[in-house]
Amino acid sequence: AALAASLPCIVLVGMMGAGKTTVGRELAKRLGRRFVDSDHEIVARTGVTIPVIFDVEGEAGFRRRETEVIDALSRDSGVVLATGGGAVLAPENRQMLRDRCVVVYLDVPPHTLWERTRHDRNRPLLQVEDPRGKIESLYKARDPFYREVAHVVVGGGRGSAKSMLRKIE
Ligand code: S3P
Repeated sequence: AALAASLPCIVLVGMMGAGKTTVGRELAKRLGRRFVDSDHEIVARTGVTIPVIFDVEGEAGFRRRETEVIDALSRDSGVVLATGGGAVLAPENRQMLRDRCVVVYLDVPPHTLWERTRHDRNRPLLQVEDPRGKIESLYKARDPFYREVAHVVVGGGRGSAKSMLRKIE
């Protein structure tokens, strides 16, 4: 545990539904590290849900909060940090993550992402008429950023969180 704590933070990036929270929790457990999640931290700090933040402050407001929280959480070298899918959009976030942490991109194909998120109501960006198309376009737009920031890319295929974890270890 002492050794683990002296190593840099480990951060998981990737699309909604990629398994960042599931894989992150399990990885933290195995490494004896603390697990933190930027979305959970935003909800804890504001006391409201992510859809409410999007309603009241717009996506821009949410992104400002996200940058603050990522800045705070990524200073702690002992953690495994799961980020929201859009965390890589801001260049300053990419730089913080890349400089401070070991960044792992969980790369899962759009079809699987859609299957995993299709019944979810807590992700405002997917509450649209064509969530499947939306996921595909977000994936296309963001994949280059995930790759730019990542030190390690873990392909998920249709595989489970467990199989991704094996590839990280
Ligand atoms: C978002 C992903 C969500 C959350 C917010 C926006 C995105 O996190 O931060 O709804 O832009 O992809 P998850 O990736 O944990 O679903």
